[in-house]
Amino acid sequence: MVRVCFVCLGNICRSPTAEGVFRALVRDAGLEGALEIASAGTGGWHVGEPPDRRAREAARERGIEVGGRGRQFEAGDFERFDLVLAMDRSNLRALERLAGPAHREKLALLRDFEPDARRGKLDVPDPYYGAEDGFAEVLDLCDRACRGLLAHLRETHDLGRA
Ligand code: 4NP
Repeated sequence: MVRVCFVCLGNICRSPTAEGVFRALVRDAGLEGALEIASAGTGGWHVGEPPDRRAREAARERGIEVGGRGRQFEAGDFERFDLVLAMDRSNLRALERLAGPAHREKLALLRDFEPDARRGKLDVPDPYYGAEDGFAEVLDLCDRACRGLLAHLRETHDLGRA
């Protein structure tokens, strides 16, 4: 079992979207039993809230379910997850401070898993205060990077069939 957590700022736009996109890819690959998938936010403002309506609607147009409730990432989560993927460099820095040296190797940017990625350089932009089409862009970026992530995990772990 490989445990993956996507992390943004609020846990109501980008990281629940990445979680939904990755769940759908993993389900289509028949690998649901091999991966635990979760999301969280570095900030606590939206704890307990459902994902942003715009994120849910943009995802639903593509047949992807974005659900769950806002949760703040805690230092103890580094014990639970094998891979903690930040949606942007600002949240990566916040996670690095929380992790301490022991868990830094579990951290990466989601977009590091894009094909030909410039490692450590690419953000999924925050759509919260932007235009409606920001949510479609988030979905595009998550789809690309999550496909690369799944390919990477298949190369580096024995995930079983398919
Ligand atoms: P997220 O978007 O980090 O993708 O969930 C945001 C949601 C809320 C806020 C910022 C970003 N906020 O400041 O409330």
